Amino acid sequence: MLNHRSYLQPSTHRLPRVCHRAATASLLFGLAFQPSLASPKPKPQTQPPSLSAGTLGQAGQGRHIAIGAAAASAYLAEAEYSAILGSEFSQLQPENETKFGPIHPRPDSDPNPYDFNGADKLVAFAQSHHMLVRGHTLVWHNQIPDWVKKGGYTAPQLAAILQSHIHAVVGHYASKVYAWDVVNEAFNDDGTMRDTIWYDQPGINAGAGTQYIEQALRWARAADPQAKLFYNDYDAEVLNRKSDAIYAMAKDFKQRGVPLDGIGFQTHISLKFDDPANLASYAKNMERFAKLGLELHLTELDIRLTDSSPESLRAQAKLYGEITDLCVHQPACKLLQTWGFTDKHSWIPNFYKGQGWALLWDENYQKKPAYEAVHDALMK
Ligand code: G3I
Repeated sequence: MLNHRSYLQPSTHRLPRVCHRAATASLLFGLAFQPSLASPKPKPQTQPPSLSAGTLGQAGQGRHIAIGAAAASAYLAEAEYSAILGSEFSQLQPENETKFGPIHPRPDSDPNPYDFNGADKLVAFAQSHHMLVRGHTLVWHNQIPDWVKKGGYTAPQLAAILQSHIHAVVGHYASKVYAWDVVNEAFNDDGTMRDTIWYDQPGINAGAGTQYIEQALRWARAADPQAKLFYNDYDAEVLNRKSDAIYAMAKDFKQRGVPLDGIGFQTHISLKFDDPANLASYAKNMERFAKLGLELHLTELDIRLTDSSPESLRAQAKLYGEITDLCVHQPACKLLQTWGFTDKHSWIPNFYKGQGWALLWDENYQKKPAYEAVHDALMK
């Protein structure tokens, strides 16, 4: 089995984190560490290490865990934003700019159907800071443009639209994006399939149940055979009906050779999550997916609060540390990624009225106790 973590293995000769295809493939899939495929001597480093001592990224490297943040190109113009993103993290993921609506705003009949500008800026930033890039998301019921939603397309037409979309977007970022959330949030909390335009309204003609997910994975694999392909969801962190349904799908896919490489656990949580039974259940859930040979990513971690009192910030820090511990103690867990990194630009206040303060840096770009807790858990 390929050891994806090996790209972060400690080395006296640290390799750049994002570079061109061959090097990236070696780094990401551990080929550089396989005797039959590796060069006998490490190649001279052409780019300086960019993980500064004492950063989260460096602490994660010691654990073979990439440390990521969701990011938006509009904020790169803020000096503090770019400085922290480019120095503390070993990965970024566009928060919105690789979703269907933002990246494919016009129909294929338009001379210019795609808008890669925002995502291209993020990829360029990542490359210049030697960071990995993760793509999000190809198939989702949200942020679909009106030309798709209101186009009145038949199922075969929608299938052609989605296949072409996956081919164009994954193809555009082949060798630059090492992993994709191919399908996002396809299940209801009770484990049934969510009704969506891609599944059954009218769907893409792939068949019942998880067959449209399988179809999307196969299209993504064809578009970039090197990219790691993930299914990503929320509230599936612990053992429950939704995670059971995802597990059943993953088991079936692995048995039949459907190209699924990993599961993304979003981990949008509040302090209520801080219960030993919950944490144990999260660990057990990760373990059963790991046993299928899947890679596990914590993709959208944030811990929302109802106030920013010192007590709340301390409780948040404790939970951040505990979640980090879960990843550290699960060998298949290769990514700890927060959904943004500064409270200034978090999605939480817009979606949960009266709540916020969910990330590791406050709205003035000052580190919060949660930062230290994550760092300490990675260093322990
Ligand atoms: O970019 C437009 C801007 O042009 C316009 O002026 C403005 C007016 O409302 O909207 C802007 O778009 C917003 C976009 O975020 C960028 O800020 C959308 O309205 C807003 O709906 C969108 O919210 C995003 C949300 O997904 C959409 O469902 C959040 O930023 C993003 O954090 C959130 O991310 C999701 C993950 O993809 C999947 N998991 C859950 C997670 C949180 O909801």
